[in-house]
Amino acid sequence: MPYPVFRPRRLRESALLRKMVRETRLDVGDLIYPLFAVHGRGIREPIPSMPGQCRLSVDELVKEAKDAAGMRIPAVLLFGLPNAKDPRGSEAYAEDGIVQQAVRAVKDTIPDLLVITDVCLCQYTSHGHCGVVEDGRVKNDPTLDLLARTAVSHVEAGADMVAPSDMMDGRVAAIRESLDDGGFHETPIMAYSAKYASSFYGPFRDAAESAPQFGDRRSYQMDPGNAIEALREVGLDVDEGADIVMVKPALPYLDVIARVKGEFGLPVAAYSVSGEYAMIKAAGRLGWLDEERAMMESLIAIRRAGADLVITYFAKDVARLLESGATP
Ligand code: PBG
Repeated sequence: MPYPVFRPRRLRESALLRKMVRETRLDVGDLIYPLFAVHGRGIREPIPSMPGQCRLSVDELVKEAKDAAGMRIPAVLLFGLPNAKDPRGSEAYAEDGIVQQAVRAVKDTIPDLLVITDVCLCQYTSHGHCGVVEDGRVKNDPTLDLLARTAVSHVEAGADMVAPSDMMDGRVAAIRESLDDGGFHETPIMAYSAKYASSFYGPFRDAAESAPQFGDRRSYQMDPGNAIEALREVGLDVDEGADIVMVKPALPYLDVIARVKGEFGLPVAAYSVSGEYAMIKAAGRLGWLDEERAMMESLIAIRRAGADLVITYFAKDVARLLESGATP
């Protein structure tokens, strides 16, 4: 139906009409808010490359989580910074590790908030890699047991869901088996399935002090040029028992999100990572972009590509904006 019969502008005339025919919505219920836990008390240490985000001691983290829950954000994703690092990342799976403490405190205070934990070793290892290092190489199979122990310790502390982000082969199966052995059949796994070796994790690595001390993560995280391989990675995680699959980063990999959503019948999460947040914050501060609009446009794009859930440091800003009735 060509012009002049069809005039697409008819439906763009008013804000109400635009809202009625909008295909994709961003809802506060789709958001997951990442938080960084540190040892100590009363600590709210700003992260310079992630304006607005802080490293939080458990007491402060609970306040932040309460705040988020009050804004109807359904879930937080917890990361921890340990007191001491060692080659095998032992605080990652310590009963009284920082994440385990944070999980207990949040679940004690706000039982209805979903607590998801990031399962990885890189914040906890002295070499900063996501697995066990032998002869200068990151070893896959010896790492699986440590990841599984980490996941079980999080769930024992009360975590509602675990999210392995290490990219070792076979880790979803290893974690599923250990959770089941521990009687945690009902605890879902959100797998970082297509996680790329990305420059966009830079600010996170400052925040979590998790930069590798030698080499890089390219022997386990995915090559940015590959999309078909992402489908294979997702397929493997699905076969191993992943309940939710994730694409990470989000904005530079919208095509991958769309393909994963099209190919698999599972909920898809996308992680809008620290670098995506930092870019928008930085350009906003310089007056080069309208920060709020750029934030909403990016997040709606991630949903439009096919993500059901969006992990974002902007979660509270979005919740505030949506609450005020604003539309992207
Ligand atoms: C741990 C992990 C990383 C991120 C989430 N989990 C860093 C990395 O793989 O180097 C990045 C999150 C972000 O950049 O916001 N493996």
